[in-house]
Amino acid sequence: MKILVTGGLGFIGSHTVVELQNEGFEVIIVDNLSNSSEKVLDGIENITGIKTEFEKLDLREKNAVTSFFDRHQDIKGVIHFAASKAVGESVENPLLYYENNINTLVYVLQELQKRDEANFIFSSSCTVYGQAEKMPITEDSAVQAAMSPYGNTKQIGEEIITEVAKVSPIKSIVLRYFNPIGAHPSAEIGELPLGIPQNLVPFITQTAIGLREQLSVYGNDYPTPDGTAIRDYIHVVDLAKAHVIALKRLLENKNLEKVETFNLGTGKGSSVLEVINAFEKVAQQKLNYKIVDRREGDITSAYANTDKANTVLGWKAESTLEDSLSSAWKWEQKIRS
Ligand code: NAD
Ligand code: WQD
Repeated sequence: MKILVTGGLGFIGSHTVVELQNEGFEVIIVDNLSNSSEKVLDGIENITGIKTEFEKLDLREKNAVTSFFDRHQDIKGVIHFAASKAVGESVENPLLYYENNINTLVYVLQELQKRDEANFIFSSSCTVYGQAEKMPITEDSAVQAAMSPYGNTKQIGEEIITEVAKVSPIKSIVLRYFNPIGAHPSAEIGELPLGIPQNLVPFITQTAIGLREQLSVYGNDYPTPDGTAIRDYIHVVDLAKAHVIALKRLLENKNLEKVETFNLGTGKGSSVLEVINAFEKVAQQKLNYKIVDRREGDITSAYANTDKANTVLGWKAESTLEDSLSSAWKWEQKIRS
């Protein structure tokens, strides 16, 4: 059974391709290589032994998207990762984000709407909750005004999917990721941030390897036990597996609604200092860091209530924070060697 993975050469997409192939799915990847490289195909092949079908395609090109779907009538499901994801860049260049994250979604859905049956998985984010009032965050917590154009594209994306479901045969599962980290345990694939990493874990591993001098910890005056902000860090392989389970749910018509939404997190919050301590233990080295002012736009705390994913989807994160950090460290060492 053929599955299209858009953005399948990216961080979460590549790990999902591996899990799909492990479960016997045939995968075709489209990616415009704006934040990835064709070398990822070798990494995937080294793990699964499969040469994945790949087409270089920019999903912003509507005619090319139509032509792609015309040529691939046999696609039974789509996992749509392709998007731009840098929050700061989205503030600088909002139209790039609306074009890349909204137009591409619309073009893919327009093609799926032409079919009698379509199964669609969408990458959303815990960013839609903003600073939620209650922890842990359940799926029915209020979606709050977005703090960045990037965040807004995820909210608008969810709304588009919901509206389209009312008038088309498309069945969708919206997955709201908390903070994905780590790499495949083989260190054949992992996260490849362009330039200076904005996210905590790649900044930690790049500092430990000597690429960055010092990690800045953004604020220790938050109302949390150690004063640093709390997030729910989820291993990318656990996250990838959730996509396969969600896809099977749609393919087997087990979904209860046309659009279902699930939080994907571990359910456990970790502070920035806890992440640093866990990393120091795993890497057996001290990390050079200093406390600086808060980063604008950061929230105090976000971690998932995963009951719905556990019971309805039948998925649970298995890796510990140490497992995730250990795989991220192994990957960093491998790519710098
Ligand atoms: P990534 O940048 O590693 O992967 C995205 C891939 O999409 C890249 O390979 C990129 O080249 C490709 N792409 C971008 N625009 C494209 C276009 N117009 N046409 C074809 N390909 C295109 O990002 P990721 O971390 O793997 O994230 C995947 C998805 O998950 C994104 O939608 C992102 O917004 C969402 N998400 C990510 C996080 C996170 O922290 N990583 C958290 C929540 C949600
Ligand atoms: C985690 C914690 C920082 C870097 C972002 C997006 C969100 C989602 C995931 C896509 C925070 C602190 C970080 C550093 C630090 N992406 N930090 N020093 O901010 O939770 O979420 O990525 O949907 O939309 O906003 O993740 O990894 O940037 O930060 O102290 O150099 O680490 O302040 O508390 P965040 P992050």
